Amino acid sequence: MKSTEVRKKSGICSYSYSLLLEGQKYAHCRKTSIRVAFATFKLLTLLFIVIFVIFPLSYKYSYKLQSSAVFLNFVHAPSDAKYKDPASYGLYASRNFYLTHDGGITLGVWQVLPENLTYFGNDTKDDRYFEESLANGQDVIIYHHGNAGTRLTPHRVELYAVLRKHFHVIAFDYRSYGDSSSVDPSEEKLVIDSMFIYEWVHNRTKGNIFIWGHSLGTSLAIHSLARLQTKGLKPAGVFLEAPFNNMKEEISEFPLARVSHQHSSRKLLDFIT
Ligand SMILES: *[C@@H]1O[C@H](CO)[C@@H](O)[C@H](O)[C@H]1NC(C)=O
Ligand SMILES: *[C@@H]1O[C@H](CO)[C@@H](O)[C@H](O)[C@H]1NC(C)=O
Ligand SMILES: *[C@@H]1O[C@H](CO)[C@@H](O)[C@H](O)[C@H]1NC(C)=O
Repeated sequence: MKSTEVRKKSGICSYSYSLLLEGQKYAHCRKTSIRVAFATFKLLTLLFIVIFVIFPLSYKYSYKLQSSAVFLNFVHAPSDAKYKDPASYGLYASRNFYLTHDGGITLGVWQVLPENLTYFGNDTKDDRYFEESLANGQDVIIYHHGNAGTRLTPHRVELYAVLRKHFHVIAFDYRSYGDSSSVDPSEEKLVIDSMFIYEWVHNRTKGNIFIWGHSLGTSLAIHSLARLQTKGLKPAGVFLEAPFNNMKEEISEFPLARVSHQHSSRKLLDFIT
């Protein structure tokens, strides 16, 4: 008997088959389609449950998850970072040092000399020169970085290079960031770090102190300044770059969150925040 090869396309059932066996193979193919459809359905249901039930519930009740999402202190922290060598990021006449406070918490700090003081300081590794420069009365700016990354993240380094045209720049990593003490972050603890850095600078300069905060750093800076004010300490000025009113607005305005901005995602947001 002559069998003819025919190519048949119907959804996922696409293969050559013999006309003789048409009925049998078609049934087999239908069974496969149903199985695939069922597996897909199961997968989608599972995905739905994870995204809309398990994740929101874990987020709402896990402080650790919330804190990781807010502080992102594990993101963009290169393992080959040269914290000790600001010059390798183009910051000549700058030094790296460490300060310890709050029962053994160590913070990594960069001091970037103002441009008009780099003539003598370009090559110096002499801490005394840096301390005397800080004390000389020129304006100082303390940079509070946002979440993710460290004091050596490229867009921050670019800003120090601009700020140094006028200011003495102090940039530091809060605990849990960069090479500062690796402990769990919290707003309270990071605010204590900011207050400490402010007081440290205040005790050493005769110049005006300005504060720069970026993103999450704006809230940490403002919170610490409110508390420093009760001690009679006030900066000469504050720069807030990309500040926000509260966490709920911050999350809903975050570019990734805009992907779905419908009523349901609003409700989800209300539930988890
Ligand atoms: C310090 O070094 C940098 C980079 O090499 C250079 O651009 C700058 O002009 C130097 N500053 C002075 C005052 O010599
Ligand atoms: C450096 O510039 C500041 C103003 O930006 C000025 O007050 C200061 O006297 C200058 N210092 C030197 C050593 O030129
Ligand atoms: C700043 O000086 C005050 C008063 O001398 C002192 O109590 C405080 O511990 C100092 N803080 C820092 C961070 O140096």
